[in-house]
Amino acid sequence: MTIIVTGGAGFIGSNFVFHMLKKYPDYRIVCLDKLTYAGNLSTLAPVMDNPKFRFVRADICDRAAVYKLFEEEKPDIVVNFAAESHVDRSIEDPGIFLQTNIIGTATLMDACRKFGITRYHQVSTDEVYGDLPLDRPDLFFTEQTPLHTSSPYSSSKASADLLVLAYYRTYGLPVTISRCSNNYGPYHFPEKLIPLMIANALADKPLPVYGKGENVRDWLYVEDHCKAIDLIIHKGRAGEVYNVGGHNEMKNIDIVRMICRALGKPESLITYVTDRKGHDMRYAIDPTKIHDELGWLPETKFADGIKKTIEWYLENKSWWEPIVSGEYRDYYEKMYGNRK
Ligand code: NAD
Ligand code: TYD
Repeated sequence: MTIIVTGGAGFIGSNFVFHMLKKYPDYRIVCLDKLTYAGNLSTLAPVMDNPKFRFVRADICDRAAVYKLFEEEKPDIVVNFAAESHVDRSIEDPGIFLQTNIIGTATLMDACRKFGITRYHQVSTDEVYGDLPLDRPDLFFTEQTPLHTSSPYSSSKASADLLVLAYYRTYGLPVTISRCSNNYGPYHFPEKLIPLMIANALADKPLPVYGKGENVRDWLYVEDHCKAIDLIIHKGRAGEVYNVGGHNEMKNIDIVRMICRALGKPESLITYVTDRKGHDMRYAIDPTKIHDELGWLPETKFADGIKKTIEWYLENKSWWEPIVSGEYRDYYEKMYGNRK
């Protein structure tokens, strides 16, 4: 069994590579990654010498490079994590999101059609459903919820999902889609809420909370997401969408306060800043389908997961400190300098 994992040098993709190499020592895992600002080869250092692992630097939009890799590897399964993934960046500059997230997905699926695979899996997001109101806690996203996106990021992901379903219906490509809620855990790039707050708190820097901090996200430990994808690619039905989430809704402000407490930092670091444009209010997944069909349940409780995550950031400063002090600092200035 050979699996091409695109975006495997990023947050969730790298966790998935580790999960698969550990659980299936006979599988060959080939990581295809462009190494954008969000991809970090040092993340994959522990598996670089594993004979069952290969890393290839390429862009999923580069048809010639993608076809060459498929010709060489003849993959059975393709799992597409590669994407531009940060909402704030998509608001500043949507173009690259359309290119990677839509054109890249189509290019990969064209290769799948040309060379033949048993499964193409698209890693999507709950953000394709738009948001839910705070005063309707009875509402959840199901797989039937209409796509209703808010940001250029979520629109590009929804576009990709539509293409994936079109390739199933039109060409019979055996596809699956997972739409997961917000992940957290090791190797999360420090531009996203949880790692950014941990890094800033440790440096006694302001903790920039957008708007009133009342927006709600449904947080899932990254390993639970990887296990869900593992189940879907082996046992999920072709042509199906599976929502993945752990009924773990939290307000942003409560998470930031929790991080302050865990690190012994004062809440006076919390700074309310200008809200994100078009900011989604609440995400909440109904994971009944993946539970009933595939037996998936989240295993890590938020209290344990956040503790493990904070410990990981404390123990792995050598992973994230160079990111925070490098080119990312210019980004931070640009994004947060005028939010005051
Ligand atoms: P990430 O930004 O940490 O990693 C993305 C990876 O893709 C990086 O390694 C980057 O180098 C690579 N990449 C980007 N453009 C590429 C291209 N053109 N060709 C090849 N590689 C390219 O993202 P993440 O948080 O790990 O998210 C992975 C996937 O999961 C994305 O598709 C995202 O939409 C989806 N998702 C993320 C979350 C979350 O909470 N992070 C939740 C649900 C779904
Ligand atoms: P983020 O981690 O960017 O994920 P997403 O937008 O995909 O859900 O943001 C999570 C929530 O945290 C979101 O409501 C925006 C908010 N947020 C802040 O309040 N401050 C920040 O500096 C960041 C990055 C996010």
